[in-house]
Amino acid sequence: MEKLPIIALDFTGEETKTFLKQFDEQLFVKVGMELFYESGPSIVKEIKMMGHKIFLDLKLHDIPTTVQKAMTQLAALDVDLVNVHAAGGLNMMKAAVKGLDEGAVNGKRPEIIAVTQLTSTSENQMQNDQQIHSTLIQSVLHYASLAKQAGLDGVVCAATDCRHLIGELGSDFKYITPGIRPNGTDTNDQVRTATPAEAAQLGASAIVVGRAITGSEDPVKSYQQIKTEWSGTDE
Ligand code: C5P
Repeated sequence: MEKLPIIALDFTGEETKTFLKQFDEQLFVKVGMELFYESGPSIVKEIKMMGHKIFLDLKLHDIPTTVQKAMTQLAALDVDLVNVHAAGGLNMMKAAVKGLDEGAVNGKRPEIIAVTQLTSTSENQMQNDQQIHSTLIQSVLHYASLAKQAGLDGVVCAATDCRHLIGELGSDFKYITPGIRPNGTDTNDQVRTATPAEAAQLGASAIVVGRAITGSEDPVKSYQQIKTEWSGTDE
């Protein structure tokens, strides 16, 4: 995966097009529920036509057959990366990979990662709301191991979880990290945050950045700064 920060396009189709017009380079963008439910597959096709890479972040979590069939449809959109909730279980994740293989365009399926514990979830919330009586990192590691066993390519996790996960699961598994906040920016609803440089140091494979870019007064400038900090170069 290239060292491009993944920009979370958490807005409508019209806002997305206006936003993307400001950039004259290839981007890696994340289409999440808000945009996909408003604009549907057509926005994915339009963004692909612009030449950008796409992480379709729909976090599937359903019975294995439904997820398999849904993944076949998503693979046919020829996106680069998709995801599921690891809480859906081993069989659901295996079904997701099978569905992607069935829908793959030109024999190349999208990569697939699993959400472990959302970066907006604290250990207290996890224990109270989900009744998981372990530490947060134990739960993240358990879900990540399950995802690896199911044949997925990686997990979504907090940057602060990366070191531990790499130690247990190796560095050929991918660790995609949201909750990224450059120094001095608002954490909003995220709990476990890191700066782009911290994420790089901690071994993240990719960072997902939303509001620190999309909510900035100068999104292109913020993007370039974050890209430089993340990739560790001044180019
Ligand atoms: O604006 P912000 O940088 O917080 O956006 C983070 C993006 O990453 C959002 O689109 C959110 O849905 C997504 N995400 C997350 N935590 C996860 C998985 C995805 O914040 N565990």
